[in-house]
Amino acid sequence: MARKVRTAVFGLGRLGYWHAVNVTKNRHAELVTVCDMSLETAERVARELEVQSYTNNPEDVFQDETIEAVIIATPTSTHFELLKRASETGKAIFVEKPLTTDLNDAREIQKIVHTNHTICQVGFMRRFDPAYAEAKRRIAAGDIGNPIYFRGISRDPQAPHESFVEQSGGIFIDVSIHDFDIARYLMNSEVTSVSAHGNVLKYPFVKKYDDVDQALSYIEFASGAAGDIEASRNAYYGYDIRAEVIGTEGSIFIGNLREHDIQILTKAGNTHDILPDFPVRFKDAYTIELEEFYKVVLAKGIPQITVDDGVKALEIAYAARKSYQRGQKVKLEMLQSLV
Ligand SMILES: NC(=O)c1ccc[n+]([C@@H]2O[C@H](COP(=O)([O-])OP(=O)(O)OC[C@H]3O[C@@H](n4cnc5c(N)ncnc54)[C@H](O)[C@@H]3O)[C@@H](O)[C@H]2O)c1
Repeated sequence: MARKVRTAVFGLGRLGYWHAVNVTKNRHAELVTVCDMSLETAERVARELEVQSYTNNPEDVFQDETIEAVIIATPTSTHFELLKRASETGKAIFVEKPLTTDLNDAREIQKIVHTNHTICQVGFMRRFDPAYAEAKRRIAAGDIGNPIYFRGISRDPQAPHESFVEQSGGIFIDVSIHDFDIARYLMNSEVTSVSAHGNVLKYPFVKKYDDVDQALSYIEFASGAAGDIEASRNAYYGYDIRAEVIGTEGSIFIGNLREHDIQILTKAGNTHDILPDFPVRFKDAYTIELEEFYKVVLAKGIPQITVDDGVKALEIAYAARKSYQRGQKVKLEMLQSLV
């Protein structure tokens, strides 16, 4: 029988719970323990998923030499310490985006991961979503000519809970980072500058954390292409994730609002349902990204999304936040002096 990668999951909240479920379903993996700061949560999830142990102490995982891989899905402000310990103790790492809230911390992790030859895959799951992946294939095949404009829309149905916002790094680092990563990937070019704007339209509490609930980033690429990225916490109607890549010979639309491909016709009109949240919209992508992770761990290979991609996306997000705060365009080459 093929070897199974003994795995621990850190953080069992909105997303980590689903990662734990997906590990139990993955034929290359064995979920041996779950770790959450709340022992009650860890115990509940362990019981539900029939996992043999649970803990609220990350060191229990790091000291266990039989655990080969960890999945980090804790609040972003806690990633740095967990990433560092995981790399130091020789674990393969799958870490949720963003790598860290602080760019210097991310760069330190990048060095540590490279020095220790740690496998470290970052959770930019859109790259594995069937629609985004097909768009990548079509663009690479030249179906729309040269890509010249990227448009990304990421709207959440509401603001996350306050402690999440506090530990998230803000909307550019927490939300737009998905689009910054997928934009680099689809356009096959690095972002060179960002001009960002933002406002608080619905959730005054985010002001406490120098955050906004509606943001717009205009980006320029080394290739000469450009783009715009909207991030919002105000899509009352549902979870709305879309993108468009315009090329010199065509355009690709990615994603739509529907959960099921049905229309309901009544006297009230013609309606359809709307995707409610990220676990539903990206169910396949979360499964596929872990499938890829375990293939890499078993082959001792290099992930498709590396720590370097994590740092690049965070640099763009940092530039966006700086641009919003200063009210001026920020060039990525100037970032060093601004961090
Ligand atoms: N890829 C995506 O689509 C996506 C979606 C949501 C969240 N995320 C990312 O996943 C991470 C978690 O987000 P979430 O929404 O699930 O958060 P959450 O607040 O819902 O859950 C976090 C969980 O981690 C636990 N925790 C906190 N500190 C811990 C520590 N030091 N050790 C162990 N457990 C700890 C908390 O008790 C909680 O159960 C964040 O980095 C976020 O950016 C990614």
